Amino acid sequence: MALLSIENVRKEYQVRGKRVLALDSVDLTIAEGEFVSVVGPSGCGKSTLLNLIVGLMRSSMGRIVFRGAPIDGITTKIGYVTQKDNLLPWRTLIENVEIALEIRAIEKSVRRAQARDLIDQVGLSGFEDHYPHELSGGMRQRANIIRTLIYDPELILMDEPFGPLDAQTRIVLQDQLLKLWAASKKTIVFITHDLIEAITLADRVVLMSARPGRIKSIEQIAIPRPRDVFKIHEDAQFRSSYERLWQQLRPEVTLSESAKGELI
Ligand SMILES: Nc1ncnc2c1ncn2[C@@H]1O[C@H](COP(=O)(O)OP(=O)(O)O)[C@@H](O)[C@H]1O
Ligand SMILES: [Mg+2]
Repeated sequence: MALLSIENVRKEYQVRGKRVLALDSVDLTIAEGEFVSVVGPSGCGKSTLLNLIVGLMRSSMGRIVFRGAPIDGITTKIGYVTQKDNLLPWRTLIENVEIALEIRAIEKSVRRAQARDLIDQVGLSGFEDHYPHELSGGMRQRANIIRTLIYDPELILMDEPFGPLDAQTRIVLQDQLLKLWAASKKTIVFITHDLIEAITLADRVVLMSARPGRIKSIEQIAIPRPRDVFKIHEDAQFRSSYERLWQQLRPEVTLSESAKGELI
């Protein structure tokens, strides 16, 4: 059975009396354990799609079904990692990572052990007692990801989590994310505007059109795992997928630029 199924979803916003059609006719089924990347031009409704899946807002038409039941509000079964890290500045790294377990009243020694284990997995050992402002952007984003993993959601949504980071740090974090994913067997929906990142990580790349966002094509990425993110661009399958996807994406990027400011 599919873990998540998005069925004929449409989302319209009302902006000062005008309708903005953000998403239209979106159909997508995601299997348990799958890593799906979603790429599309800026403003095509990628964040809107995640907000609908996580239950922050409702679709105007269609429905989203998670484990057989329609999404109805926020649940801890679905984790959400955004571009902004949202770490609490007055808490240390380890205190930020363990928050979800603290809320569940898990005993301190137990939650500390789990937090330390995750901190270790992303190479942040030694920084447990640092405050967010004492960490680099890449370190903060790692902390952001593991504070979501710690409460063990079945599905993790990521909205351009590596967007603000420099190119080298992004590759290191992609590598760590793939290792975390392989170890945890979670299902991930990963939004990015970076085609290379999308292909590097995913089992399938979903390509969206310019607004109103529709699924334009889906590319299966059969590159064997574990993948070497540092030289995956040399892989022949990588190159052919990149070529095919870029052919599809390029006109959408130009379209989204020329359609700026225009409604429906
Ligand atoms: N809360 C909102 N209210 C009104 N319009 C919105 C809202 N959120 C997004 N939009 C509009 O919906 C479209 C899609 O936005 P978004 O989902 O943020 O796209 P993306 O994440 O792909 O850049 C844009 O035109 C944006 O201006
Ligand atoms: Mg967005």
